[in-house]
Amino acid sequence: MMEKNFIPVNCTSPVVDGMVTYKSPSNIALIKYWGKKENQVPANPSISFTLDSCATTTSLKYTKLDVPSEDFSFELFFGGKPKPDFKPKIQTFLTRVAPYLPFLKSYHFVIETSNSFPHSSGIASSASGMSALALCLMHIEKQLNPDMEVAFFNTKASFLARLGSGSASRSIKGPLMQWGQHQNTEGSSDFYAIEYPYKVHQVFEGFQDTILLVDKGQKQVSSTVGHNLMHNHPFAERRFEQAHDNLTELQKVLADGDLTNFVKIVESEALTLHAMMMSSLPYFMLMKPNTLQIINKIWEFRATSKLHICFTLDAGANVHVLYPASEKELILQFIKDELVAYCENQQYICDQIGDGAVAF
Ligand code: DP6
Repeated sequence: MMEKNFIPVNCTSPVVDGMVTYKSPSNIALIKYWGKKENQVPANPSISFTLDSCATTTSLKYTKLDVPSEDFSFELFFGGKPKPDFKPKIQTFLTRVAPYLPFLKSYHFVIETSNSFPHSSGIASSASGMSALALCLMHIEKQLNPDMEVAFFNTKASFLARLGSGSASRSIKGPLMQWGQHQNTEGSSDFYAIEYPYKVHQVFEGFQDTILLVDKGQKQVSSTVGHNLMHNHPFAERRFEQAHDNLTELQKVLADGDLTNFVKIVESEALTLHAMMMSSLPYFMLMKPNTLQIINKIWEFRATSKLHICFTLDAGANVHVLYPASEKELILQFIKDELVAYCENQQYICDQIGDGAVAF
């Protein structure tokens, strides 16, 4: 589908006032999105596990205005309190999605949002937050166009979420979502994420993600700034090619359930992401000493236990520890005994792969 397919032709039903609530999860990328072109077009394809517990719940109250407003009319609450510092991000989002949702200026919106994970845990909430809001807006469009099919609803929700935050495009459904054009993936697109369309081995069912909160502080460098540093990066082109190749390799691994190669691809992607940050100009480093301690402990434990534990990283110091459900007992015990000590206030979150957003 092309961008123009998301511009509604006629919005007929007279929707006045209402309210909608969506809970949308976070996701963790296995092949990383790092680098983008204009209009939130990714420089390379990415694939992620949708999470289950880490989620944002957003309620959107909409009231029809007598006369459409000049600018977007909205109030924003986070955890029950007004949140003026989030407003510019929402304003930018609404500006980007307005061509695809022509009704936006005809309503006043009250957006109430809260996260299941602790505030300032260092877990990015843009994926869950933007996807939840995109779904709420799609609910209004669906009322205006009641014949809209579920597949289109989800695809457009992903398309809109992407305009808010690239990784948010991958939070609409689950358990595996792919975003970005890839020649070996039929139906893949730079404009929205799709449910991974090929066979996935049962070893990945209920895959675990224990998130170790190494540093709960504000990010030193926003993702947007980080992505932009891939322009003129000396290794950018090779990195983008590598992501395509890694995705092709990962497809085999997902089909065969080959956990040894899964570990190699996933850890290499995480370290490459951070290597890109360290080799950009200006350069920066988001890993902390405890991130490295944890990585080394995981490597030692994997070598001795022969279990299929591995790590991945987002744009931050926290470590996502990934492992199959069948090895949960032993690995969780290892995490508690050996890794939790490296977390800020011993905090960690047990999550697993999930099926995507839900309406309330
Ligand atoms: C490292 O989606 O946060 O988590 O599109 O600028 O909002 P924007 O970036 P964002 O970038 C996430 C990057 C990443 C890798 C990934 O999730 O693929």
